[in-house]
Amino acid sequence: MRSGRQRLLDELLPEVAIELETAATPNALFDFQPKELWLEIGFGGGEHIAWQAAANPEIGLIGAEPFVNGVASLLGHIDREKISNIRVWADDVRPLLDALPDAIFTRVFILHPDPWPKRRHANRRIVSQPALDSLARLMTDNGLLRVASDVPSYVDWTLFQLGQRQDFAWTARCPADWRNPPADWPATRYETKTSSEGRPPTYLQFRRYPRD
Ligand SMILES: C[S@@+](CC[C@H](N)C(=O)[O-])C[C@H]1O[C@@H](n2cnc3c(N)ncnc32)[C@H](O)[C@@H]1O
Repeated sequence: MRSGRQRLLDELLPEVAIELETAATPNALFDFQPKELWLEIGFGGGEHIAWQAAANPEIGLIGAEPFVNGVASLLGHIDREKISNIRVWADDVRPLLDALPDAIFTRVFILHPDPWPKRRHANRRIVSQPALDSLARLMTDNGLLRVASDVPSYVDWTLFQLGQRQDFAWTARCPADWRNPPADWPATRYETKTSSEGRPPTYLQFRRYPRD
């Protein structure tokens, strides 16, 4: 007999999955005309994207996650909570980024990216110049990029990578801005776990500068 998880993967995933061919017209992925498009890279169990989707029904959200258990978990949220404004890319985000058109995302979330702490694995970190080039192309003027990490060296890495760029500005004005999450930032399971283990996240937010 098929498990509930398998049913979600067999039946619900094809309804909400993005194909590379359909990525060129992202608004058309949704059954309504989204007011804005948001992207979450590496949604894990999907708690954050599901929360944002329920709180913002007028927004079209695209989530990318290659880990099948995470995809199944998000499908569970979509099914149980009757969420209709999420579309799923169940794979490495990078080919999707290349297939999407310019200036479409007003928000991008990268929450607790895998830190790949060893120097020789640095090219696997999702916060990287090639990925930031893609995000700079894909984000609208004044779009917001949110990154969170509980790994101090990854926070330093992120600030260093973004600090080199002319197209993003860190929005923090005082320590509270990186110590406390914005009001519309629900804690993921991962975040709750690391906080309870004494590793609270740092919350970073960057604004995409307007194009000339
Ligand atoms: C540490 S987990 C955090 C998950 C979730 N964001 C959270 O806060 O609970 C990092 C996630 O990023 C995903 N990931 C890693 N590389 C990725 C890539 N290239 N494209 C999309 N997702 C990726 C992993 O599969 C994993 O689920």
